[in-house]
Amino acid sequence: MNQLFDKHGRTINYLRLAITDRCNLRCQYCMPEIGNKFVERKQLLTFKEMYRITRVLSELGVNKVRLTGGEPFVRHDFMNFLEMLSFNENLEEINITTNGVLLPKYLPEIEKLNKIKSINLSLDTLKANRFKEITRQDSFVKVMESLDYLKSSKKIQLKLNFVVQSGVNTDEIIDFIELTKNENIAVRFIEEMPFNGVGQKDFNQLWDFKTIIAHIQQHYSVIEALSSVKSSTSINYKIPTYKGTFGIIPAFTRTFCNDCNRIRITSTGMFKNCLFDEGVFSVRDFLRNGANDDDLKDLFIKTVHHKPENGFVAEANRKVSLISESMSNIGG
Ligand code: GTP
Ligand code: 5AD
Ligand code: SF4
Repeated sequence: MNQLFDKHGRTINYLRLAITDRCNLRCQYCMPEIGNKFVERKQLLTFKEMYRITRVLSELGVNKVRLTGGEPFVRHDFMNFLEMLSFNENLEEINITTNGVLLPKYLPEIEKLNKIKSINLSLDTLKANRFKEITRQDSFVKVMESLDYLKSSKKIQLKLNFVVQSGVNTDEIIDFIELTKNENIAVRFIEEMPFNGVGQKDFNQLWDFKTIIAHIQQHYSVIEALSSVKSSTSINYKIPTYKGTFGIIPAFTRTFCNDCNRIRITSTGMFKNCLFDEGVFSVRDFLRNGANDDDLKDLFIKTVHHKPENGFVAEANRKVSLISESMSNIGG
């Protein structure tokens, strides 16, 4: 029985676990080109620690894990960890969010792992030169290879994460919807958030949910609204006759908090009840100081109970009010 619930009536069954803070891209909306503070290696959770934390949480009711980063595949031995995690009987789904650069060589192996049902591929443009501007790296060809492989995978459901960046890629929103015409993929347009490692940006320019949907409505005469699972971050639609779907994730306007079912563990082992909180306690230090599984369970149950009502409350409770963390340090 699930033992993780909060005082707002929400049950937690979804863990987002960041594998590393390192990344092989330098996306503008995620970190500065140089000078992002990556932590010393020994501060990162080891795979053994990640395995144990996940096992304990899964005994409390977590049955879905998403592995994020940074970029999960840049960490040595990530594939072994994936395999190990797949043996956890309590987990129904293990999914991955990746930038796809290192993915091609691992995809055949990943397809053999039963519990990996879905890969969320971050892709903000279909133009090679723009890819280089956004990510400050020249890896477009590799990402396209991943995209092609995943489009034809019978096993893995593909979602594309497109961060809508005002003045940068909004002219491609319709191109991405057109990708769903003949392919069964889910494109998700994400509101940009200030987790960019510097915190400075004019968020009055934000393309929010309303702007994005209005833009799409100008292009299509009929858009079908879809029902989604209660805890979905995206509000989903499709163009009738198209094979795939598209959605909008109001990540910044935070309209889905009522149904939030998730907690986060960052790559350094900080427990986060909410994306917008500063981290509640260091699971890593607790473990390294000798905590046993019962101590851990006790702490998880008590902490989850105090999950903030929504992302705005979490943000208001921050000691340092300016959000300037990089998404790569949090895990998305
Ligand atoms: P699914 O499990 O496929 O629904 O994926 P997801 O949308 O939960 O995860 P993904 O890693 O693909 O994240 C997509 C976007 O949603 C990213 O920009 C995340 O930062 C954002 N996101 C995910 N979870 C939350 C959340 O709890 N709160 C907010 N505000 N944004 C979130
Ligand atoms: N705002 C919104 N989404 C972001 N992501 C990374 N940084 C930001 C940001 N500042 C997205 C990535 C990835 C997911 C985990 O988070 O594109 O798909
Ligand atoms: Fe959950 Fe916080 Fe995200 Fe809202 S902002 S959905 S409460 S993690």
